[in-house]
Amino acid sequence: MTIDHFQHKAENYEQDRNKVNTVGHIANAVLKYLKLDKTMQIMDFGSGTGLLLEKIAPFVGRITAVDISSSMNKILEDKSDNLGCELEILEIDLSKSSLDKKFDRIISSMTMHHIEDIQKMFKNFYSMLSDNGVIAIADLDIEDGSFHTQNTGVYHFGFDRETFLNAAKQAGFKNLNIVSAASAVRPNGEYNIFILTGNK
Ligand SMILES: C[S@@+](CC[C@H](N)C(=O)[O-])C[C@H]1O[C@@H](n2cnc3c(N)ncnc32)[C@H](O)[C@@H]1O
Repeated sequence: MTIDHFQHKAENYEQDRNKVNTVGHIANAVLKYLKLDKTMQIMDFGSGTGLLLEKIAPFVGRITAVDISSSMNKILEDKSDNLGCELEILEIDLSKSSLDKKFDRIISSMTMHHIEDIQKMFKNFYSMLSDNGVIAIADLDIEDGSFHTQNTGVYHFGFDRETFLNAAKQAGFKNLNIVSAASAVRPNGEYNIFILTGNK
């Protein structure tokens, strides 16, 4: 059985204004670095309550939201009528499966540190992208382990940017670029967040 690590967080997830602002900045970076249009079908990996995808929805045709957590998906489902694009929610563990579909873009915010084998995940992304498809993946720079109050389901205390970029390169991605996108304010301090972009 799959463990829902976000079961106790889902309901209050969007009460944290700092978190909402942080994902807003990540969304701005996605909009700055990705060309989007209403014909596009995109995937948001680890979509959670939809904080990222709701900012991107007006600019694309259809979003496939992939998340393992039924409690987070439930909150997203309640937003589905007011997003400005079609929405499909898939409750799957993408570290153990793949989708037999191709996307024009794959976006993700703050999910890769929950993935043990990021190289395998980048390969998975590569296989699910259409030709010339593009990824935009945001996550934490290396931190001291204080970002989460408890670390169940956390496999990485952030990432070294070069190591992260190389994992994408090994998976076949080209034109890779990694830049600062946002910061996250938490009780224990402020944490930097990068965004990696690259194409198939
Ligand atoms: C920190 S939350 C980020 C949510 C959202 N992207 C945001 O920025 O607000 C991470 C999300 O990734 C999901 N997740 C973690 N591992 C996953 C996996 N293997 N497959 C699908 N979703 C996963 C969790 O359930 C959670 O909703």
